[in-house]
Amino acid sequence: MKVTSLSEIFLKKKNINEIILIRGWVRSRRDSKSGISFLNVYDGSIFNSIQVVIKNSLSNYFTEILKLTIGCSVIIKGILIFSPSSINIYEIKAISVHVIGKILSPQKYPMSAKKHTLEHLRNFCHLRPRTNIIGAITRIRNTIFFNIHKFFQSKKYFWISTPIITSINTEGAGEMFKISMLDMKNYEYQKKKHKKNFFNRTAFLTVSGQLTLEAYACALSKVYSFGPVFRAENSNTRKHLAEFWMLEIEEAFSNINQISKFSEKLLKFLISKVLKKNFLDLSFLNKNINTKIISRLQSFLDIKFFYIEYKEALNILLKNSHLFLEKIYWGIDFSTEHEKYLVEVYFKAPIIIYNYPKKIKPFYMKLNTDGITVSAFDVLLPHVGEVIGGSEREDKFEILKENMKLLKDTQKDYIWYQDLRKYGTIPHAGFGLGFERLILYITGLKNIRDIIPFPRTSGNLNF
Ligand code: 4AD
Ligand code: MG
Repeated sequence: MKVTSLSEIFLKKKNINEIILIRGWVRSRRDSKSGISFLNVYDGSIFNSIQVVIKNSLSNYFTEILKLTIGCSVIIKGILIFSPSSINIYEIKAISVHVIGKILSPQKYPMSAKKHTLEHLRNFCHLRPRTNIIGAITRIRNTIFFNIHKFFQSKKYFWISTPIITSINTEGAGEMFKISMLDMKNYEYQKKKHKKNFFNRTAFLTVSGQLTLEAYACALSKVYSFGPVFRAENSNTRKHLAEFWMLEIEEAFSNINQISKFSEKLLKFLISKVLKKNFLDLSFLNKNINTKIISRLQSFLDIKFFYIEYKEALNILLKNSHLFLEKIYWGIDFSTEHEKYLVEVYFKAPIIIYNYPKKIKPFYMKLNTDGITVSAFDVLLPHVGEVIGGSEREDKFEILKENMKLLKDTQKDYIWYQDLRKYGTIPHAGFGLGFERLILYITGLKNIRDIIPFPRTSGNLNF
């Protein structure tokens, strides 16, 4: 018999009085005195669970049904009916309940019916997908992933798989993870024995696919990449991961104006899709995390982003400098308290800050005519701060070469990158979007470790 998912039921793809087969896990069990049990069963395909009504005339009622606990897996055949209760829309009158997997020691089961904190759940990343909250986040994550591809494909961008193993440090700053097949315990001994490392040079996990993506933009015009990137930043904050997903786009003949407006369009598109596709998931978060989530997302679709130059943002902060711990000066890299003030207190809206001081940005950004700022922009959202960072790229060979002096003895690794300016250079621009940061904003959660299935942060690699 064909299996029916709960999403098919709740999206009205099944008929009332139809006999159906569902598979899933028990969320709860309640027994009435009159010999009827009520199971709440979910299968993850949609936020909802469904109530299954089981009579004691079923052959395994006393031997198995009355022993079911939260987490047991079951296959149920039954008749789909409208629920007489006002809370549930549908329920299933069981014809048979096949118990597949039991919970071996229910009193020790970490996902018991008790409400657990998100911090507690982080110790059980392999079991937490069973909770309502992680289920909701996961489905939202999936919607955004799918619609990122949909958005770019519909606009005729080409998807490029940029490498994960690399020899270069795109962003220049920050620690990278080195990779090697040598055993760290006997590193020196092995190095002698093998004589050389696998690549015959130092290899890293990439912090960004941008530079290689540019190579493709300089031929296919409109390209994007979407994959995991790695940063060995020791920032134990609620917004930083050592492994996170980044969407990067790169566009030939584009500029900062076009690309920053485009980033605003992308964010609105993705949020509109989540509102449509994940309303039940959002409703749960609205009830349990923050009652403003849905209204905030709805108003996001029409909100006007503020575009301000770095120097304007700096002036606003200078006028209110007594509010901040850190001294405000030209060239400061805004910290969380500054971003928070600008976005949540001053503008009370998403903002795009552009034209940053050259000295705080990477070598590849295009120098403005003032000689001290670059055509860079950051998109800051309330609650999470920077979600997107991008820029026009330096397209002049001589200036790029000069900037690269900063890279000192690693310059030789970027000769190929200079070729892109030597052979038919073009103005071009792009940006990177932190996938988990965006989901942090959408879901209203506080900590990025609850957004990615198996978080990797400093001192934490448990799975
Ligand atoms: O601003 P970033 O460092 O920009 C780049 O890497 C550029 N090469 C992108 C490009 O132009 N193609 O990173 C982009 C975004 C940030 O805005 C932030 O949302 C996210 O990536 N991000 C992080 N997310 C989670 N954990 C971290 N440690 C992050 N660091 C950056
Ligand atoms: Mg940045």
